[in-house]
Amino acid sequence: MTNQKKSRAQFATKFGVVAAAAGSAIGLGNIWKFPYITGVYGGAAFLFVYLGFIAMIGLPVMLSEFVIGRKSRKNAFGAFKKLAPKSLWRYIGVFGVGAAFLILSFYGVVAGWSIRYIFFAFSDVFHSGADEINGFFEAFKTSPVKPVLFQLIFMFLTGLIVIIGVQKGIERYSKILMPLLFVIIIVLDIRAVTLHGAREGLSFLFKPDFSKLNYEAILSALGHAFFSLSLGMGTLITYGSYIQKENNLVKTAVKVTVADTLIAVLAGIAIFPAVFAFNIAPDAGPGLIFKTLPNVFQHMPGGAFFSVLFFILLTIAALTSAISILEVVVAYFSEELKMNRHVATIFATVLTSLLGIICSLSLGIFSEYTFFGFNIFNFIDHISANIMLPLGGMFIALFIGWVLGKYKIFKEIAHGGSLSGTFLSVFMFLVKFLAPIAIFLVFMKGIKLLDIITDLIAKVF
Ligand code: PHE
Repeated sequence: MTNQKKSRAQFATKFGVVAAAAGSAIGLGNIWKFPYITGVYGGAAFLFVYLGFIAMIGLPVMLSEFVIGRKSRKNAFGAFKKLAPKSLWRYIGVFGVGAAFLILSFYGVVAGWSIRYIFFAFSDVFHSGADEINGFFEAFKTSPVKPVLFQLIFMFLTGLIVIIGVQKGIERYSKILMPLLFVIIIVLDIRAVTLHGAREGLSFLFKPDFSKLNYEAILSALGHAFFSLSLGMGTLITYGSYIQKENNLVKTAVKVTVADTLIAVLAGIAIFPAVFAFNIAPDAGPGLIFKTLPNVFQHMPGGAFFSVLFFILLTIAALTSAISILEVVVAYFSEELKMNRHVATIFATVLTSLLGIICSLSLGIFSEYTFFGFNIFNFIDHISANIMLPLGGMFIALFIGWVLGKYKIFKEIAHGGSLSGTFLSVFMFLVKFLAPIAIFLVFMKGIKLLDIITDLIAKVF
C-alpha cells in the first residue's frame, strides 16, 4: 500500500483486497470492545440493534466508501476534491483524519495491554482465582509506567511497519494468522459454553430484553457498527483506491462485513458464559476480556500455550487495524500536504502516541480529570466512535446518494460483475434516505440534542 508516487499501488489479488479490508476491520473492536460494550449496555438487545445497524447502515456505507475510493483513486481528502471539485465535501476527509488521530491514541493503549498479556500466561497470577486476575489487571491499568511502555512499543511497531512499507507483507501473513485467530476463538467458545453456568451467559448475549435499551445504548451500537467495520473516516476510501477495477465491490463489502460480525459474535460467545461462570460483572468495562479470558485459559488443556498464541494474534489483529488508521493520516499528509512520507509517518505516530499516553494515564493518576462524566480515555473513545464516525458516515452516504449520481455509481459498482436494477434501487434508497436519516436521529437522541430542542419548542409554544 505504499509507493504511491508514480503509479498508485494496487492490491494484486482479489483475496488481497478482502484480507486487507478485513485486516483493518477485524481488530480490538471485535474482541475487546464489542464484548465490553455489549456487557455495559445489557446484552442481547444491544446485540440485535447492532446487527440491524451493520446490515442497514454499515454495509451500504462500506460499499459507498469503496466506490468513492476506487472511482477517485485518492486518499480520503483528495477523493472528494476530485469527485466534487471546489466543493466543501473535501472537509469530510479532514474530519476523518481527525477521527483517525483520536482513535489511534486509545487503540494503542489497549493494544499495549494485549502485548503485556502475551507474557502474563507465564506468571503466577495466571494460575490463581478470578479475584487475583481482576486485581492484576486493575493494578496494571492504573500504573503510570508499564501500560505506557507497552503502548509505546505498539505504536513504534505500527509506525515502523508503515515506514518500511511492509504492510503487504503483513497482509500476506495475516491471511494465515487471522483464520488461526478464528480457530482459537472457536476453541475458546467450546470451552466457554461447556463451563458450569454457561447458560446464563448465553441468554445474556442472545435473549433480548428491549426494556434495557436507552438512547445512549442505541448511539453506541451505531458508533460501534462504524468503528468495527472501519467506516466513517476514510479508511476504506483509502483502501478502495487501491482496489483493481476487476474486483467485485459488492462481494468484497459483504465478505468483510460478514467476517467482521462473525468474529465479534464468536468473541461474545467466548466471553459471556465465562463472565457468569466466574462471577465477573458483565459491565466491568474496558477490562472485561482481560479479566475474563485468563480464567477460561486456566481451565483448558494447554491453556498457557493457547493464551500466549491468542494474545499474539490479538496484537497482530490490532496491528493490521492500527496500520489502516495511521494510513489515513499519512496518505493525507503526504499526498495533500506534500509532506515526505517518512516524516509524515513519524510525525503522526509521535503525536498519537503522546495523546495515547494521556489516555493511558487517565485510567490511573489522571482519573480525576473528567469531561461530561467520562475520563479522558472514554471521552476520546466516545467522541471519535460515537460522534465523529457516524457523522462522517452520514456525509459519505449523502455524498453517494445525492452528489455522485446514480449512473456513475452504477458504472463503478458494475465493473467487477453484473448488477441488478433492484439491487441498485435498494442501495440508492439506503444511502439517500434511510442511512442518513437514521444516523441523524440516533445521533440527535443519543447526545440528547433532540430532547433539548423539543423542550425548547415546548417552552416557546
Ligand atoms: N475496525 C477496527 C477494529 O475493529 C478499528 C478501526 C476503526 C480501524 C476505524 C480503522 C478505522 O478494531
